[in-house]
Amino acid sequence: MSIRLRDVSFWYGEKKILDRISLEVREKEHIGILGGSGSGKSTLLKLLSGLYTVKEGSATVAGEGTTEGIRKKVAMVMQTPGLFPLSIRENITCGHPIAEEKIWEAVRAAQLEEWVKGLPDGLDSLVGERGGNISGGQAQRIAIARAIAKDAPVVLLDEPTSALDGETADALLRAMECLTEGKTVIHVTHREETIGNYDRILVLKEGKLFEKESVSGI
Ligand SMILES: Nc1ncnc2c1ncn2[C@@H]1O[C@H](COP(=O)(O)OP(=O)(O)OP(=O)(O)O)[C@@H](O)[C@H]1O
Ligand SMILES: [Mg+2]
Repeated sequence: MSIRLRDVSFWYGEKKILDRISLEVREKEHIGILGGSGSGKSTLLKLLSGLYTVKEGSATVAGEGTTEGIRKKVAMVMQTPGLFPLSIRENITCGHPIAEEKIWEAVRAAQLEEWVKGLPDGLDSLVGERGGNISGGQAQRIAIARAIAKDAPVVLLDEPTSALDGETADALLRAMECLTEGKTVIHVTHREETIGNYDRILVLKEGKLFEKESVSGI
């Protein structure tokens, strides 16, 4: 099993967000999770990525039971890419020693090769404060290149295609196919069309996780 949650609960202060959630995900399975705004989708991914610790219950991800172990086995792409005001290269490697060829493989898979090769400083071009020198779609694909370069067995996606126009979204979707192929994937979203071809679709509602068929009114 790639992911195993047992009776996991989580709350911020007094407010319970996740209420005894259990989930088993097989290796390389692609799971979509639907849920309205504020239903706890991002919170669930933060637990699965080892950013937060479960308050009750247990979480095992890629065989790891500690947040430190989990963080090494998971690559996450968030709604807003969160780039550093450094070079494209540094945004992809995050300071890890990654071979030049591997970086270019990730750039290619993320549909960024043509653009990066056309820049005067190539991979060493600066993305600027808050990604100021680049478009939203390019920023998101740099975040995807970072996740591809990490080559982690588990990929977590938090609405990575929202708020982008049609043409950009096409390149983004191709990049995401490269990122998710052969990996265990959890993709949370409030838009069902982005997870149409996934193996299983679940729904997060009122702190509980359901199989989609058993839920109405979402
Ligand atoms: N750091 C925090 N401290 C306190 N409350 C929080 C924190 N982060 C989120 N919440 C609250 O927890 C609930 C779930 O938030 P979460 O971000 O997980 O929802 P979401 O399903 O990802 O929503 P969206 O679709 O808008 O991204 C919300 O009510 C939110 O206000
Ligand atoms: Mg969210």
